[in-house]
Parts: sequence; structure tokens; C-alpha cells
Amino acid sequence: MQKKINECITSNICGACSILNIPYKEQLDMKTKMLKELLGENEIIYNTIGMTNPYGYRNKAKYVFGIKKSKNVMGFFEEGSHKIVANEKCMIHNEIANDIAQYIFKLVNKYKVSIYNEDNNTGVLRHCIIKVGINTNEVMIILVTTNKRLGRQKDIVNDIIKKYTNVKTIVQNINEKRTSAILGDKNIKLYGNGYIYDTLGKYKFKISPLSFYQVNPIQTEKLYNIAIELANLKGNEIVYDLYCGIGTISLFVSEYVGRVYGVESVKDAVKDANENKKINNVKNVEFLVGRVEYILPKLFEQTKRADAIFVDPPRIGLDDKTIQTILKIMPNKIIYISCNPETLARDIKLLNDKYILKKVQPVDMFPHTKHVECVAMLEKCEKYVKKLTNV
Ligand SMILES: C[S@@+](CC[C@H](N)C(=O)[O-])C[C@H]1O[C@@H](n2cnc3c(N)ncnc32)[C@H](O)[C@@H]1O
Repeated sequence: MQKKINECITSNICGACSILNIPYKEQLDMKTKMLKELLGENEIIYNTIGMTNPYGYRNKAKYVFGIKKSKNVMGFFEEGSHKIVANEKCMIHNEIANDIAQYIFKLVNKYKVSIYNEDNNTGVLRHCIIKVGINTNEVMIILVTTNKRLGRQKDIVNDIIKKYTNVKTIVQNINEKRTSAILGDKNIKLYGNGYIYDTLGKYKFKISPLSFYQVNPIQTEKLYNIAIELANLKGNEIVYDLYCGIGTISLFVSEYVGRVYGVESVKDAVKDANENKKINNVKNVEFLVGRVEYILPKLFEQTKRADAIFVDPPRIGLDDKTIQTILKIMPNKIIYISCNPETLARDIKLLNDKYILKKVQPVDMFPHTKHVECVAMLEKCEKYVKKLTNV
């Protein structure tokens, strides 16, 4: 059942769901229109695929702690700032996450945990992140602190695991820096193995505190399946999956091709990717750790060809070096998964000499937010196909 829209009292301030007051169907149309305006290829841009229930979809919930008028608060950052908007329940977060976060906040007050104060850089507890495997029901809690011991740590952990048996791991993440980045590099296991599992399609994925995992698994499955369909694979291709995270696209693609090479810069994510390959008994995938811009030329030297390249970069899109290398590799198809239409439009222009944009399928990964995600399929221009086959 869809909840009544505009139920959130802070949606206009905190920015988590800034278009909550717009009817969902209109939101989807807005997103399609935005892509059409940016890409200017109206007939090949398809309508945005929405969700049946566009609430509670986020499997990763981030809460910030602070002090306001001498009282502890938990909530979210105001859009574009570090001001805290107190709110313990977000309509786009998974309900279990909201529930656990509220309980953690109760414990924080009960045990008088020292809260971080950004203004004078004092205190300990900064954020709480809750990751939920929506298909496995496994939960990971990450308590982000400065480099100090969390007071009453044992009591907090014991209370949480007693109340929530699906909490599989609790991790303390150390972030000493005064930056806008929420997570630091160091993790200390307080309970469990330090990771959880989730499933997507027929695959099982290990998720660690620092590795990227799509926040909306229901739509992710649709997105990946569309990407694979657009690649129209025949079975013996060499495929690159650039910016591969924990290897989700690589594994999804693996059964349709000869070999997949995934490239990812976060070491922990590649560790997870390698384990995911093993758990799922996939043999034809290899993961490489490092920045795409440096790894890609070496990978091409090694494999000599790539028939299709999947790219799923962060919001900044592809860098010049990567675009130049792709133009040297000249795969038959580029499947570009983008979470930022502006950088997508820029990159399509840069590939324009040798690639034609054939289809763009937006998938609403972030209902009630302005974010637009899509899969774009680019095909090598006919003259280059001929040129290469004539050689
Ligand atoms: C939008 S996520 C996509 C991850 C994955 N394809 C998925 O669907 O879950 C982008 C990924 O690129 C990684 N990344 C960012 N910059 C990178 C770079 N220059 N080289 C390699 N990986 C990078 C991030 O760590 C992140 O895992």
C-alpha cells in the first residue's frame, strides 16, 4: 500500500526526499523530461520505470548525531549544509533501519554517550549507518566515531543484539577528520563478522562497511537486466565492467559472455567482489583493483579486445583519460549506467565521433528525490565497424 504523500515534516528542509510533495507519476515524467532536455534525442529516451511502492526503498540509512540547545539530537543534514534537522524517521529509508536507529538513539541517551560537536571538534559519536540486506533480512550497524572509545560500548552492543536478532554485525568506524565525508578508513568489529549478505537475482553478495552497494535493490535488478538486454550479448564476448563495486554487474553479465573483467578502486570492494565470485561459483570473471584511468590501458594490452564495456561511474562521470582509452579500444557497445544526466550528456558528446546513442532507459532508483538514474546504450558507428572488419 502506498502511504499518503507529504507525511514527512522535514522533507522540505533535510533534502532526503525533496520532491515528496509531487505525485509519483509526475516525478517520473519530470525525470524523463529532464533527460530529454539534456540529451535532445527524444524518441530514443524511454519513459522512466518507477516502483509499485516508492517508499521505504533505501537499504542504507545514514543518521547524524549532534547537540542542539544542550540536548542530543539525531537526524539528517539540511540540504547542502551541516545543520542537523532532527528527525528519527525517514520515509524513503527501510523501516527496519528507522526502527533500529530510534532504538540506538534511546540507548545513546540512556547510557549518556558522548556526542560529537562539529563546532569545537569534541565528543565521540558522529553518525550511525544502517545497511539492510532486504532479501536476506541481515542488518549491519556502523557507528562512526572520533578516535575514542565509545562509552558503554558493551551495553549498547548487548542491548541491540538482544532486541534485534537480525543484526548480524556492529562495526565502529573511526573518522577523526573535520570533513563532509561520513566514513573514515578504519573499522573495528564490535559484534559479528564485519559484513552482511544480500541477494540480487540469483546471486548472493557480501557487503562490507566501506564498499558500494546500490541503495535500491528492487530497481537495481531491473536496471542490471535492462543493461544486459541492451548489450545483446552472444556468449563469447570479452566484457569490461568498469567501476564495478562489489562485482554485481560482472556477476550478472558473466553467464552471457566468455569473460568479464571488473575494475574498482576501493580495495575492500574488490575483496568482496572476489569473495562474491567464489560464493556464486562464477569462474569467468576477474577483478582488478585500481583507478579505471590507470588500469584500463593495461587491461586492454592484456586482453587485446573488449567487445562490450559497461561503465557505472560515480556522479563525476568518466574522466578524459578513460574516454580516450575507450575510443582506442572501440568496443562494439558501451553500456553507460549513469546517476548524473549532466555528466552523461557531456560524456556522450565526447564519444560522439565514433559512437551513436541508441537508447536511454531511465529507472527510478531514488523516488521522491531529484536524482535520475539511467542506462544508455551507445553503438559503434557503422563506418568504424566496417573499417575494423576490413583490416
Ligand atoms: C556508482 S558505483 C557503481 C558500483 C557498481 N557498478 C554497482 O552497481 O554496485 C561507482 C563505483 O566506482 C568506484 N570508483 C570511483 N572512482 C573510481 C575510479 N576512478 N576508478 C575505479 N573505481 C572508481 C566507487 O568506489 C564505486 O564502487
